Amino acid sequence: MSQENLPEAFTSEFIINNPAGQDFQVNRRALADPKVLEAEMRHIFDTCWIYVGHASEVREPGDFQTRSVCGRPLILCRDSQNRLRVFLNACRHRAAVVCREREGNAKSYFCFYHGWSYNRDGELDGVPGRASYPDSFDATKLGLAEPPHVGVYKDFVFVSFNPQAQPLEDYLAGAKEYIDLIVEQSPSGRMEVIRGTQEYDIRANWKLLVENSFDDYHLMTTHSTWLNYMKRSGVEIKKPERGHLMPAHGVGKALGNGHAVIDNVNFRGRPVAKWIPLYGEEAKPEIERIRAELVDRLGEARATRVADTNRNLVVFPNLVLNDGSSITIRTFHPLAADHMQVRAWALGPVEETPKARAIRLDSFLTFYGPGGFATPDDVEALESVQKGLATFREVPWSVMSRGMSKVGEQLNTDELHLRAFWLRWHELMAPTFEE
Ligand code: FES
Ligand code: FE
Repeated sequence: MSQENLPEAFTSEFIINNPAGQDFQVNRRALADPKVLEAEMRHIFDTCWIYVGHASEVREPGDFQTRSVCGRPLILCRDSQNRLRVFLNACRHRAAVVCREREGNAKSYFCFYHGWSYNRDGELDGVPGRASYPDSFDATKLGLAEPPHVGVYKDFVFVSFNPQAQPLEDYLAGAKEYIDLIVEQSPSGRMEVIRGTQEYDIRANWKLLVENSFDDYHLMTTHSTWLNYMKRSGVEIKKPERGHLMPAHGVGKALGNGHAVIDNVNFRGRPVAKWIPLYGEEAKPEIERIRAELVDRLGEARATRVADTNRNLVVFPNLVLNDGSSITIRTFHPLAADHMQVRAWALGPVEETPKARAIRLDSFLTFYGPGGFATPDDVEALESVQKGLATFREVPWSVMSRGMSKVGEQLNTDELHLRAFWLRWHELMAPTFEE
């Protein structure tokens, strides 16, 4: 979405969008009111495609991961034929959760309450005292339920609770191109989630983490400690050119359906082919080898695109793929209007050597980890915003107009990509607005 095809000007109780007047504002009640969250659960989380997990997290028949998605307990698993399945984790008898482990391999799912059990295909195959049920009792109709739609794009697994959902690939729109740039880092096109999950809660509205995940305007201030550390470690941090705030060029782009990205020239190293002193001299040959493989396979131009740029991608509404010095899959769900639960995993090529994998995991922890250079500062910023939002009745509007006067390219420190998210949010939420 360029500036030219932004929607017509409008003003609602939540958004002021006035491209001609170069004004865009978001009403802070959208980030603070429990009633807004209630409407979001139905009009956003029950409408869109929502990320559940990665196919590599379940590999063998019976492998499972339990997840909490859109307020529902789910089982992401492989059935008896090794097909990827997603079940609603609720017993058909009286709704108790049938799989209470976080992950593992199950021969069957056994409900601890009255003892009903389900096989790997979700079929009800055990009912204690079955003879006492009348003839109308039909076990074949009482298997574990499934969401209306499950979709997989390049091993990223999504569900939709919307029976009328459009096909996943159509929904992903321009975000596919950026997922492809991630997957192409593997010679075989196979990426895997590396064991271990980062888990933390933030006392802030979930949409603040959407904004923060690709808001480069805050990098130089909020993350100055990290930038100083990089500098001290011998990484070249250039002085921003005139008109820029960042050490390297980067743009913000809208990708359709509310998805958006910041697409940056990499200055901070990548275990796919960009060495920095921080990785140590001994890692240099390995990283050069990875680069040579990329060039061989993809050609110089595409290898440069994959390796020398990095990206923070938001797949609307709540999936973030941070493909920088590591690749982080981050998803988050609201627990309350001012509280979210965050889950993050590291992703890497299956072929990666232990050395490259160690660099990746170190980067995963060092920057985006809950104790890393970025996340504690971001959490502090978001919780501070949420505190300030308590004044929304007195100061209702937040300004989001950076870059609106520009024709053409928008920088990563502009706010076109944030506006794209909010415009889609507005479109989906509009039926709930007061007349
Ligand atoms: Fe599962 Fe009763 S709730 S057996
Ligand atoms: Fe940050």
